[in-house]
Amino acid sequence: MKRKPFLAGNWKMNLDRKGALELARSLRDALSASVLAERDVAVFPPFVYLDEVVRALAGSGIGVGAQNLCDEKHGAFTGEVSAEMLVDIGATCVLVGHSERRHLYGEGDELCNRKVQRALAAGLSTVLCVGEQLDERDSNRTDLVIGRQLTAGLKGLSAEQLGRVTIAYEPVWAIGTGRNATPEQAGAAHTHLRGVLAGLYDARLAQTVRIQYGGSVKPDNIATLMAAPDVDGALVGGASLKVDSFLGIVRFH
Ligand code: PGA
Repeated sequence: MKRKPFLAGNWKMNLDRKGALELARSLRDALSASVLAERDVAVFPPFVYLDEVVRALAGSGIGVGAQNLCDEKHGAFTGEVSAEMLVDIGATCVLVGHSERRHLYGEGDELCNRKVQRALAAGLSTVLCVGEQLDERDSNRTDLVIGRQLTAGLKGLSAEQLGRVTIAYEPVWAIGTGRNATPEQAGAAHTHLRGVLAGLYDARLAQTVRIQYGGSVKPDNIATLMAAPDVDGALVGGASLKVDSFLGIVRFH
């Protein structure tokens, strides 16, 4: 089954207002409708610039999403941002369970699941991130860990809801380290995740879900990673902050 590649840039806590808008406008100017017909592209700016980036990219065909959301609907949750607020400003997508949220801020599988539920209920699409740490890989627990994160993260979702979920496989040891997973390692993990999806839903539905790879993706390794089995796109951190390197990834061939 052919799945449309999905290339996304996670800007993390980088750029200032001017830099964020410049990057957004440069992407809009560079990405023609014919490129976007063949691949989906989205950016995930910091919250404070989200509204302006949404407006800068309106009508461009480039998606804009948030890096995080609150698992609660509204109320006394100081410092949090709700799914409805994201929808209100025109964001269409949200990341859930990025490894920095899991490991620096202690977000567990149950919280991730509540966030996925909240995002989907509000009408957002969701990128659910999973990935093992180095010691887990070294002790051959990669499949176990990412299978558990996937199963817990998707708990209670209908087949219809799964249609708005992308999975991002991001081995923690590959994020921001310059050490990407080999295409063989990525392919094996992605094929495992698709098998888990087939078990949770069915094989036909599992074939429709896109699984992005993330972790030190660069213009010079994207093509070989994309050629690996079950790799349907990339979630890019550092290399998404410069227009040329992100375009080099988006235009892989
Ligand atoms: P990186 O980050 O591309 O800088 O390794 C990837 C990510 O965290 O999504």
